[in-house]
Amino acid sequence: MRLSLPRGRLSSCGGVSGPRREERFRKEAKQPKRVVKVVNQESAAQLTDNPVIVAKGLRKRYGDLEAVRGIDFEIRKGECFGFLGPNGAGKSSTIRMLSCLSPVSDGQLEVLGMPAGVAERRIKERLGIVSQEDNVDPDLTLMENLLVYARYFRMASGEARQRAGELLRFMQLEHRQDAAVRELSGGMRRRLVIARSLMHAPEILVLDEPTTGLDPQARLLVWGALQALKRQGTTIVLTSHYMEEAERLADRLVVVDHGTVLERGSPRELVLRIVGREAVEIWPEDAADSERIAEAARPAVRLSDRHGDALVLFSDEPGRIGEELVRKQAVPARMMVRPANLEDVFLTLTGRDLRE
Ligand SMILES: Nc1ncnc2c1ncn2[C@@H]1O[C@H](COP(=O)(O)OP(=O)(O)OP(=O)(O)O)[C@@H](O)[C@H]1O
Ligand SMILES: [Mg+2]
Repeated sequence: MRLSLPRGRLSSCGGVSGPRREERFRKEAKQPKRVVKVVNQESAAQLTDNPVIVAKGLRKRYGDLEAVRGIDFEIRKGECFGFLGPNGAGKSSTIRMLSCLSPVSDGQLEVLGMPAGVAERRIKERLGIVSQEDNVDPDLTLMENLLVYARYFRMASGEARQRAGELLRFMQLEHRQDAAVRELSGGMRRRLVIARSLMHAPEILVLDEPTTGLDPQARLLVWGALQALKRQGTTIVLTSHYMEEAERLADRLVVVDHGTVLERGSPRELVLRIVGREAVEIWPEDAADSERIAEAARPAVRLSDRHGDALVLFSDEPGRIGEELVRKQAVPARMMVRPANLEDVFLTLTGRDLRE
């Protein structure tokens, strides 16, 4: 009989040992499997192959430091494309080049069919930019910030005021429209920067860590807004340190580190290809127990890792891990089976060492 382990639930067999533990283990293993939803399946279906941003051998140097080392990517019209990577990986450097905020050191970069270094003004008119830093004017009100920004795009004042009102509502900031920006919380300021980036209805929205510093409610609000924009056809390019954000929003992404692309694909593809479908998390009693369990499970394990005290075993068929552990009488006291996720991929690819 093939065992299927319990999913998404801490299985604590603490204090139960020997045959009773095994019996409980078998019982839990019989529970039905929860189907893992393929992320963004619906939106992925609406994509075209039409690239709006193409980078080939793209490089960025700051003096002797090469922050981006010859990367290639294509971003398609209407998709959400993510850049993931640890601190200092080169994400902002890349994003700033494609936003025409920083010159390309080498390689090719085309945005909307135009070379980034040459057609700066024409590209910026069609791009919305949310930088990593909140660069709004603290002395102006929210409404004034948006109206001043609209002047860069030569919008008529009536149209600008109406659009600004709509966007403040979209970001749930309308009740503060006449407050000075300096009085805003960090999360409100971030939402204002996003509202501002949309003033000229850009075709491509480029966001560098859009939700860093936001509370869970504000993060959900921003995710909802970005999904709504995507449904309306806006192409979205983002960087993020939140794996859940990338998993929810990105159709495709690249994982970068030290200025190079380590992997690319849809979040689900990356999970299946790099770590496998499921993660079995086990909390051994001590180092010897950990060694024993790891050894017993080895034939069924595709990849293993340690998260603090926990031993994490990845597999497409976690039931086989269960079988090995039962057969070798090495069933752990506490364990949990969960779907493998993008964070597992990220840590597997980029390691656990802290960056600069
Ligand atoms: N203006 C600059 N002058 C000199 N070095 C820079 C400059 N901007 C970035 N760097 C360096 O380039 C490298 C990549 O930085 P970048 O800001 O692109 O990383 P990042 O992936 O966005 O990191 P984070 O997740 O911390 O935002 C880092 O070593 C950084 O110190
Ligand atoms: Mg950055």
